[in-house]
Amino acid sequence: MAKNFDVVVIGAGPGGYVAAIRAAQLGFSTACIDEWKTEKGTPAPGGTCTNVGCIPSKALLQSSEHFEHAGHGFAEHGIDVQGLKLDLGRMLGRKDTVVKQNNEGILYLFKKNKVSFFHGRGSFVKAEGGTYEIKVAGASEETITAKHVIVATGSNPRQLPNVPFDEKLVLSNTGALAIGDVPKKLGVIGAGVIGLEMGSVWRRLGADVTVLEALPAFLGAVDEQIAKEAFKLFTKQGLSISLGVKIGTITPGKNDVTVEYTDDKGNAQKAVFDKLIVSIGRVPNTIGLNAEAVGLQLDERGFVAVDGDCKTSLPNVWAVGDVVRGPMLAHKAEEEGVAVAERIAGQHGHVNFNTIPWVIYTSPEIAWVGKTEQQLKAEGVAYKAGTFPFLANGRARALGDTSGMVKFLADAKSDEILGVHIIGPVASELISEAVVAMEFRASAEDIARICHAHPSLSEATKEAALAVDKRSLNF
Ligand code: FAD
Ligand code: NAI
Repeated sequence: MAKNFDVVVIGAGPGGYVAAIRAAQLGFSTACIDEWKTEKGTPAPGGTCTNVGCIPSKALLQSSEHFEHAGHGFAEHGIDVQGLKLDLGRMLGRKDTVVKQNNEGILYLFKKNKVSFFHGRGSFVKAEGGTYEIKVAGASEETITAKHVIVATGSNPRQLPNVPFDEKLVLSNTGALAIGDVPKKLGVIGAGVIGLEMGSVWRRLGADVTVLEALPAFLGAVDEQIAKEAFKLFTKQGLSISLGVKIGTITPGKNDVTVEYTDDKGNAQKAVFDKLIVSIGRVPNTIGLNAEAVGLQLDERGFVAVDGDCKTSLPNVWAVGDVVRGPMLAHKAEEEGVAVAERIAGQHGHVNFNTIPWVIYTSPEIAWVGKTEQQLKAEGVAYKAGTFPFLANGRARALGDTSGMVKFLADAKSDEILGVHIIGPVASELISEAVVAMEFRASAEDIARICHAHPSLSEATKEAALAVDKRSLNF
């Protein structure tokens, strides 16, 4: 195996493995180093996303939603389920199988694209004569060289001060995806994306879930109207969400964990949980990279410092994904990875930060792209808004899933779409139309004039676009 490469990628999460494939497609000799391993010690490329993030969480969200539907939702369709039983072991096993399929898929793609894979930790040794020397330590023990390096080392869960994750009682996302018995009482600190997704999974499976959030506003980054609707729906589903709390002491016991906190009225509270998920954000991961050896600059928050093109402080060293500024999303990491490989090839890599969609995979799902109404107000932009409820959509009624709405925000003068916000069934898929429209700088009128299949949920998108001009047809 060649030890000198044009491109070496450190990290095989969505940012890194996609960058490696694209670099190889462009004709570069490419290596990718990743240290993640299975319990048996075999390689598990795919990073946080594949192993303990996007993929396993969506597998459990799907399974738990089936369970909830079988328990309650099917009845209205005239389907009575008798003797419903949860086999949690099998559910977790299925999730593990889905993860394994994805790990194996990436190894197959590396082979197909002739990317050399090294299993171990990659760290900088030195830079000499325009070449970077990188040591691989782990299952593979080698030193390889690279003309270009792409750092894609991802992120780790943020822990509360003095409360380390033990993954038995105090759980990060890793433990939250592998609870062996449904806890009676589950505490979640942080009503962000992980808190709501994992809180939903365990609530559907029977846990009594309490979510404690520091901020006074629910889902502050989400359009206020959508966030308000979401709060109402999640509370109705049985998630108990307390906003504006201040977490005090957390004391793990033998079989439970006690959380002392102050509520939004300043009253001291105490709660005892069987398990506690701490989901208060993530921190960039540069552990073990030995960035100092080559003088790779980090910013004040520990991210690898990059410019708009993902160039670091060093020539021919790039960084992408969670380890750099911007949203910590798999698709953002992938877009940056592809763009960097293309920039190395002298092409014009393209990432539009204004059209990166967000999705929260709760039920209903929440998805958005572009500006929220509160952002437009704060920026003094004159806009028009149009909303359409799924209640008025025939397909949603047939599905029996009518909660939520589609909301369009368009420039008051030009009618250009500035933001689209959806809470409702398969919002994760519906948002793509809005992303395409915004990428092409379409107007609300453009969407309103496009023929949408009937009956489909996407008609709600067209109707919301019509509503911008106060002329929706079915509401
Ligand atoms: P990572 O995926 O973190 O990968 C980094 C890789 O680098 C890891 O394999 C790590 O082992 C390896 N590594 C680190 N240092 C070294 C080293 N020195 N040498 C060798 N290897 C190294 N995003 C979405 O878009 N959609 C979702 O639905 C979604 N769900 C999520 C659910 C959860 C529970 C979590 C925690 C996250 C979720 N995310 C989701 C976020 C998503 O997982 C991340 O944004 C994404 O994984 C970032 O990709 P990355 O390539 O930058 O880093
Ligand atoms: P988050 O940033 O989404 O939410 C963290 C929440 O914790 C915030 O609401 C914050 O105000 C709150 N918080 C912070 N400190 C606190 C404290 N001391 N006490 C109480 N509350 C506190 O972070 P989360 O949920 O950990 O997820 C990390 C990241 O992973 C997300 O931001 C996202 O980038 C990614 N992710 C994406 C998913 C998706 O795309 N569907 C799913 C899950 C994670």
